[in-house]
Amino acid sequence: MADAGDFNPPQHLPAWAALTAHAQRLANQPLSTLFANDPDRAHRFALVFENPTELDQSALIADFSKQRFDDQTFADLIQLAHETRLTEGIQRLFDGEPVNFTEKRAASHMAMRGGCPLPSGSGANTRAMRTFAFDLREGLLTGSTGKTIRHLVNLGIGGSDLGPRLAVEALADPHGVIVSGVELARVDFVANVDSRELDTVLARADAADTLFVISSKSFNTPETLANAEAARQWLRAQLGEDIDISAHFAAVSNATEAAIAFGVRPERVFSLPEWVGGRYSVWSAIGLPLLVTIGGMFDDFLAGGRIMDDHFRLTPLEQNLPVWLGLTGLWNTSFLGIQSMAALPYAHGLRSFPNWLQQLEMESNGKCTLRDGSRTETATAPIVWGCAGTIGQHAFHQLLYQGTHRVALDFIISVGDGEDPRQRILVDNAIAQAAALMVGRNLETARTTLTHRNLPTAEIERLAPHLVSEGNQPSTTIILPRLDAFHLGALLALYEHKVFVQGWIWGINPFDQYGVEHGKEIARALASGETGVQDASTAQLVRLVEEFRQRIR
Ligand code: F6P
Repeated sequence: MADAGDFNPPQHLPAWAALTAHAQRLANQPLSTLFANDPDRAHRFALVFENPTELDQSALIADFSKQRFDDQTFADLIQLAHETRLTEGIQRLFDGEPVNFTEKRAASHMAMRGGCPLPSGSGANTRAMRTFAFDLREGLLTGSTGKTIRHLVNLGIGGSDLGPRLAVEALADPHGVIVSGVELARVDFVANVDSRELDTVLARADAADTLFVISSKSFNTPETLANAEAARQWLRAQLGEDIDISAHFAAVSNATEAAIAFGVRPERVFSLPEWVGGRYSVWSAIGLPLLVTIGGMFDDFLAGGRIMDDHFRLTPLEQNLPVWLGLTGLWNTSFLGIQSMAALPYAHGLRSFPNWLQQLEMESNGKCTLRDGSRTETATAPIVWGCAGTIGQHAFHQLLYQGTHRVALDFIISVGDGEDPRQRILVDNAIAQAAALMVGRNLETARTTLTHRNLPTAEIERLAPHLVSEGNQPSTTIILPRLDAFHLGALLALYEHKVFVQGWIWGINPFDQYGVEHGKEIARALASGETGVQDASTAQLVRLVEEFRQRIR
């Protein structure tokens, strides 16, 4: 990243002023007017991401035509990318320079998928983890009683949960993991420190064939360690106090000593390098549950990510998909004032995509301090939320139609997932939602709609305003040919790079997370009975909670 010395906040650049003027010009131009004036924009604002390998001809397509910009705006967004020297930033990212400038280290998660060279002297060897995962798949691992391990429970939170959980949900065979005709373990994820989550999994588990993977880069995350301890106690209670339960644990962590001290066998501690951030870690040993679930297809997942890396690194900004996605989000957030972004995957396998994206975008770019230490003058990461379609249609889409908030929408559809007619319904619904939310319904159309219901005129006039929807919700639609390992890899890498583009242009570091440390410090202080850190309100809250505890005891 540019040194703080030559860093210029983006608001000081000529393209920023031009974009501010575009935002004013377009403020009252509905999207449908943009289309009426320029029907061909549908073609110009769709980007086909060609996959240069033989795995698939066309990897994915992104349609940006329902975004509230025109050619001039888009040209100035690209100009902003040039003025912020984004090409140089991409180069520095891939060259392993310390783009994580606060922690002074590289962000080379792409190296885990072959998308950039391994930083020198790094220990990114996943061979041991792979052998372990394949042994587990093949039924070669046994528990302390000699029973074959058939159940993997991942104990992790944040990046040590969201990526693998999403990928396993997306790619697991619905019939379970079948290897050589034998049903292998199921894979479960436990993230919450609320005992209910682990208890639910344990209620269906057989201790003799269960393996817990303690997934924690730091091996210092209280929730994960508390669950690991609960798992250890459960194993002892089930299998006997005197039995060696180390056969039921593995760990993914770079705090090897701490994992061994917990009781994990040294050869079962799989590390991930420091330059792989938690929210970018599904490609590393943190992907162990995915590797167990999909076996050799894990390499297709990595290949999908790597192809996106190559595209991002080599393609001019004007045709670069992560750049388009990043600039579009930046336009909505910083210029149109749209602070809310919904991820709407119309694929049940991607139901955890919004959660994964929430951490990726909000933990990466949810910051306000620029690289020179000054405060940003523009909004940064949006509030990311969403759920799988069509479920959201029957829950929150009403607000998108008639509420008071502007929300930027990312629809994700997968067109080739089987012949079942319900797949068609899914895709048709996504397209219909994007269209209806763009076009809206004016008073006149509302009246016409009611007229077709043969209502009396007075009733039509009474009801018509309630049918009006303003439309104009901007959306991008990403089309996958199928939801398979390759395309999931490409999709996740696309969003990772989108986040880099935005962080670079805003001038913030997407790769640290100092903010979340603050709450952790206070929780630690509370746990150790310290009171000094508390304000009056919190001191009272602590007292009230304690009183309640006493009362219901
Ligand atoms: O609290 C935030 C965080 O540090 C995330 O960045 C990370 O993904 C998560 O906690 C889990 O961290 P670890 O893998 O070290 O347990």
